[in-house]
Parts: sequence; C-alpha cells; structure tokens
Amino acid sequence: MCGIIAAASTRNVGKILVQGLHKMEYRGYDSAGIALHQENQIAHLRTLGKVSLLEEKMILEKPKSKLGIAHTRWATHGEPSEENAHPHKSNERVYIVHNGIIENYLSLKNFLAKEGYSFTSETDSELIAHLLDYFLTTNNSMLDAMYLMIEKLEGAYAIAAIDRNDKSNIVIARNKSPLLIGLGEDELLAASDPLAIGQLTNQFIFLEDGDVANISANSYQIYDSLKNQIKREISEIDISSEASSKGEYKHFMEKEIFEQPVAVLNTIDGRVGGDDVLENIFGIGSSDVFSKVKRIQIVACGTSLHAARVAANWFSAISELPTQTDYASEYRYRNPHVDEDTLFVTISQSGETADTLAALKYAKEKDFLSTLTICNVPTSTIARESEFSIFTNAGPEIGVASTKAFTTQLVALMLLALSLAKSRSRNPKLRGRVITALRQLPDIVSETLKLKDSIVKIAPEIASKDNALFLGRGIFYPIAKEGALKLKEISYIHAEAYPAGELKHGPLALIDEDMPVIALCPESEIAEKLVSNLEEVKARGGTLYVFSDPSISLELKSGKLINMPKCDFLLTPIIYTIPLQLLSYEVAMIRKTDIDQPRNLAKSVTVE
Ligand code: G6P
Repeated sequence: MCGIIAAASTRNVGKILVQGLHKMEYRGYDSAGIALHQENQIAHLRTLGKVSLLEEKMILEKPKSKLGIAHTRWATHGEPSEENAHPHKSNERVYIVHNGIIENYLSLKNFLAKEGYSFTSETDSELIAHLLDYFLTTNNSMLDAMYLMIEKLEGAYAIAAIDRNDKSNIVIARNKSPLLIGLGEDELLAASDPLAIGQLTNQFIFLEDGDVANISANSYQIYDSLKNQIKREISEIDISSEASSKGEYKHFMEKEIFEQPVAVLNTIDGRVGGDDVLENIFGIGSSDVFSKVKRIQIVACGTSLHAARVAANWFSAISELPTQTDYASEYRYRNPHVDEDTLFVTISQSGETADTLAALKYAKEKDFLSTLTICNVPTSTIARESEFSIFTNAGPEIGVASTKAFTTQLVALMLLALSLAKSRSRNPKLRGRVITALRQLPDIVSETLKLKDSIVKIAPEIASKDNALFLGRGIFYPIAKEGALKLKEISYIHAEAYPAGELKHGPLALIDEDMPVIALCPESEIAEKLVSNLEEVKARGGTLYVFSDPSISLELKSGKLINMPKCDFLLTPIIYTIPLQLLSYEVAMIRKTDIDQPRNLAKSVTVE
C-alpha cells in the first residue's frame, strides 16, 4: 500500500526521493514525508495530501543531503494527517519509514510506554522508531538494533531506518511487504517498487522475507533471518520512462485503456503456434502437470476476481474442468476442502496483494497438485512463490482502476483453458477456433475503442445520477460486476451488478427514471431471455443503455443501444469490458473526480 524509498549517494538525494514518491503515488496518496541526513541533524518534512505538496515544501526549504528516506502513505492505523505521516522518529535520533501492518502493536506500545516513550501519532509504525531507539541505547549498530527489533514484531513490514549519529548508512528490513535494492552509479537505493527507482538503475535485488540489509553510497550487505551475510541474485529490468508517463493522455487510466490492443497482443505473443497453444507456456513441466488436473481453485481480489469468474466458464467449456473461485480474503477462513489433483491458481496484477499472497501461502501447505499464477509483475512475490506462472506482459498499470491488466488477465486465462484442454486431449477443434479468434483480438479491441464518441454522448446522462444498475447473464455477469466496480471506484456513483434473470426477484423495485440500467446483450442462446428481462425494465420507465450484438432486436423509448463489433462468442467478455471502462472514465471526467487516484483507494493492497 504505502510506498517507501531510500537513497545513499554521493550527490544530493532530495529530488531523487521525491521523484520516486511520485512514481509510487499509486500505492497510496494520503500524505507524504521525507527525512534527510544533514551532518548532525535530520531535516524532517511531512505534508497531508499528495506528494506535490511535499515537493512544494522541499522547494521552499531546499534541504541538502546525501542520505535520506521518504514515504507516501495509505492510511491503515490512524487517519490521514501530518502527525500520522511518515517518517516517524524517536528521540530526534532514529527516523523510519514503514509499509505494512504491525499486528501486535498494542502490546509493544504498552511496553514502550512503560519504558518512557511517548507517542505523537496514532500509527502502528511509530513504535518501530521507538523500538529501534530503545535497542540502539544498548547496542552500537543499527543493524543489531534492527534484528532485535524485528524479533519483537508480528505482521508485515518493509522498513528503512536512519540514525542521526550515522551519516553513511541506511538499514532496511523486509517481511511480507515488497522491498528491493537498486544498484545505481555511486549510489544505492531501496524502494518498495522498482518503478520508483527505474529511472536511476536497471539493476535490482529483490529481498526475501526475513532479510535485513545495510546500504551506503558505495556498498551494500544483505543478511538472512539468521544474520548470515548472503548474496541475492541481481535482476536486470528496464523500466522505460515512457511506460510510467501519461504521454498525450490526460490520465494513466485513459492511456491504459487505449494501450489494450498492444497489451493483448503482448499477452498472446510467443504463446500460440499453428492452431494450438505452445507447450509449457506456464513453465517447464507445466503441460505434464496439467494432464493430471481434475479441478481448479482460483483466488483473487477485486478486478482480478472478476477475471477468475469469467474464466471458470472457459475451464468448463474448453478444458472440461470444474472450477471454484473465492475472494482471497475469505478463502483461508472457510476451512476449504481440497480435492485430489486440484490446481491452485492466483490472479494478481501486482503480485503483491496481501490477501492473495496469504491464500497462496496457505495453499502451499495443503495438498494441491500445484500452484500457478497469472500476474503482470514477473519480479513480484506471488510470481516468485508460485510453481508455475504466466505474465500478462501488459506493461506497468498506474491508474488505480484496473483496465489493461483485466483484459490481459482474461487472455492469459484463456491460454490456461487452452493449455489444460490440450494436455487433457480435449476439444481440439474448439481450441483451433479460439486460437484464430485470439489472433484477431487486438484488431477487434482497436475497433471497440472507436465507440468512445458514442460513449461520450451518453456519459452526461449517467454522470447526473446517484445510482446505476449493470445487467449481464452467464459469462457476462462478472463483466457487469466489473463495469459496476469501475463506475463506483472512479466516479463514486453507487453501482450494482445483477444477473439479468434475478431482476424480478428484488432489484426491479429500484427501477425508476433515476436508475440508469446498463446492460450487456451479446448474441447468445439466452439473448432472447435477456431481451425479456430488459423489457421488464422498459415497462417500469427505466432508462436502458444496451451494448449489444447488431443482430439483437430491441426498441428503446429512452437511453441508447450501442452496437458492438463482431467477435467469437468465447472472447466477447473481453470486448464488452471496453465500453464499460470508457463509460466510467467519461462519467468520472464529467464529475471531475481524481481518476488515477480515487479517494480512499490504492493500487497495490499489501495489507490483509
Ligand atoms: C486493489 C486495486 C484493484 C485490484 C485489486 C487486486 O483493490 O485497486 O484494481 O483489482 O487491488 O489487485 P491485484 O494486484 O492483486 O490484481
């Protein structure tokens, strides 16, 4: 959730740290802060609100320093405020930034209070500064203090700490929250996301749970949980500045919506050949394991869970496998029964979502056949913890509301359905049909994006309402849910999704002229039934906005019928998602909300 960054350099680091915070604002943007070492004192600046306000303060105060830490916050313990913003400090000596949640904070706070420490914030993080200070009084080095401190912590953390009495070193520690070191030129960096420092280096070391490291301008040392000095692999990743800038677009979300033709192509690229999927595209040995699969369990959160619910239909129709889907936050707590030969699948754009990661760790202790992830970030924890994986190759997604990550997850899930079917010798003809359709998909996505002008016209009618209902049937019900989620996330309009057949069992009572109904009506065997459901809305004076196949006949008194491009039925959920993304975006534009960083949300939710 929060973003942390640290730098030890031979040049001034203030600007580097603030630029890094800007890149990580998608992780949280309630408040921001920085601590900069200046000979015998620390410059400590914090602001409520976005990073640009901290930047303004920096421009006024111009602190100079070659070593510092900084943070952008998404509030968990304590409201967004300057006092609760990081870095937190103890005795004007220790300054820390923290991402994660300390679960035993009450008992530790009581302990520290008895030792004479007083708290100036409502956060769990402040105790980290005091505990380090407490251990530093009896130990000489921050490294020792860090080990003694983390022994007391329960929960998740990525921490960076500096000591007023040491102008050269930053000590960092990781457990269940992402943290990496960046190897720069005459400088060492640490951050919770490679994006934050991708402009400064392409060499990263991803720390593992229990690791503690010391970084200075010219050297670093990494230690494992037993305090043995260790070597961790250096990964080379090029993060182009183009990928993390808006270019000609007004928002990242808009840019990411329009990147979908290329993103989808990148997901398919190199994974299909002739009229089938290639072998082992989920990792060496995956095709062999797939031949044994009898059942699938998927866990995910938010948009990624909607992708799972679409894919469950594909696993049934193409791979002939039953699938269960669960909210990652619920899965572990329902005492799940694990059948023999079940494949455990996680879906996560970031690969860092705490609930999904916790469910994966739980699953690894159970009797699953194997674990597999569909993920957009190859270096993420979930990717590293899973036996098999496929990367969606969508490129960085910065807008909090997920768009290209979702459509590429769907493509990757389709590749999984095809691979499972191939390994289990099921439906070769159908597989060939889907492969042909997949090859046409990027062009159809481009075609669908041309609907923008029609959507711009209907957006004001929805923007003026407080509620909206989304309807879809079968494989389109999760797409209706995704449409409703997009609208509520970025325009703050209350939106619900229903399978259209359920309308008459309750939600029909809500229909009046103030309840716009957005319906997905592709050509399918139940299209006629769906049309009858929509007639029920019409008869009660509801305004319908229908995205439909041109072959469907439906006359509307009010609202609008928008014809969708033709596409193989199995891939239509991908296509029908796009106008819903555009609609939310255009409605949010009219309502002048903060589209890329909607209130109270964060892109990467690294707390359970
Ligand atoms: C947050 C984001 C959503 C995302 C969900 C799961 O809530 O705002 O857009 O769908 O997390 O994230 P993941 O990275 O695991 O797909």
